[in-house]
Amino acid sequence: MPSLLQFTRCRVEDSVRDLLGKEISARVAETDLESDLDDAILAGIGAHALRRHLPGDILHRVQVFTATGSHALLLSNLPAQQFPPTPVSGFGDEAELAVTNAIHLGLIRLLECTPFAVRFENDGRLIRNVVPNPAASGTTSSWGADSEFFWHTDNPHQPFAPPGSDPRLYTPPYLTFYAVRNEERVPTEVAALDDVVVRLDARTRLGLMAPDFVVGAPDSNDGEATRSLSGAPVLETGPDGRHRARYDRGTTSGRTPEAQKTLDDWSAVLGTIPAAELVLDTGDFLIFDNYRVLHRRKAFTPRPATTARWLRRCYAS
Ligand SMILES: [Fe+2]
Repeated sequence: MPSLLQFTRCRVEDSVRDLLGKEISARVAETDLESDLDDAILAGIGAHALRRHLPGDILHRVQVFTATGSHALLLSNLPAQQFPPTPVSGFGDEAELAVTNAIHLGLIRLLECTPFAVRFENDGRLIRNVVPNPAASGTTSSWGADSEFFWHTDNPHQPFAPPGSDPRLYTPPYLTFYAVRNEERVPTEVAALDDVVVRLDARTRLGLMAPDFVVGAPDSNDGEATRSLSGAPVLETGPDGRHRARYDRGTTSGRTPEAQKTLDDWSAVLGTIPAAELVLDTGDFLIFDNYRVLHRRKAFTPRPATTARWLRRCYAS
């Protein structure tokens, strides 16, 4: 069965990367910009330079990404500034990363999305440093390394957003990443929900669409800040007619033995789906649809703290 994953991959030429890097560095060097306070200014600086220098075909693919209902887009060979050591405690000096933030937030703007943070996670900060934090050892959090993530969607314990609503109250529609370093070559795997649905038998599909599940908050959420979603389906059809899912194996359970059996069958199918295995490298930007894509990361052994794997993640709506 061919994969239904609609995945766009583009690479920026070295000459364009260098021009972008030079222009954005000059603009941010004139000022002092912090991702949480100055996100709109950073986005403006990045978007201006990207619009001016990216070739038309790449710009077009970025601009139509959300409207076309694509699953994922990877843009590689973007400018890479001088990076500080990996902030394995979770947080570093955001002002030092102004070039990176201008590119990351500038791309989110070109995608016609809005970046946002939620108060119950990541201390309410806009950018999540996805790093192997020793304090998160043994947890299935984006700060972990030694625990495997099975296929999941992020923050599945929240409802799907009605159009035109405050995204902070709902499951994030898009996840975006800028890769700082990944010397461990750890892949981020993405798979289309459509590829799961076509492999489900009718009983399992209907069972997943029944409101028979409890979906709890993942480890990355702060304590008791958010509640489980109870009496929710795992799979549903959105207003756009496309399937969407909420799922995290560690926090999703069936309310009846039948629902639990349905979940086991769904989980078994997840083990058979085609996936894109993306080894994000320095200067890569990735966006995927968190309603219609499942993602996972295997356990890995991080490099020493200063050069350990470091991705920058931002939710977008
Ligand atoms: Fe995740």
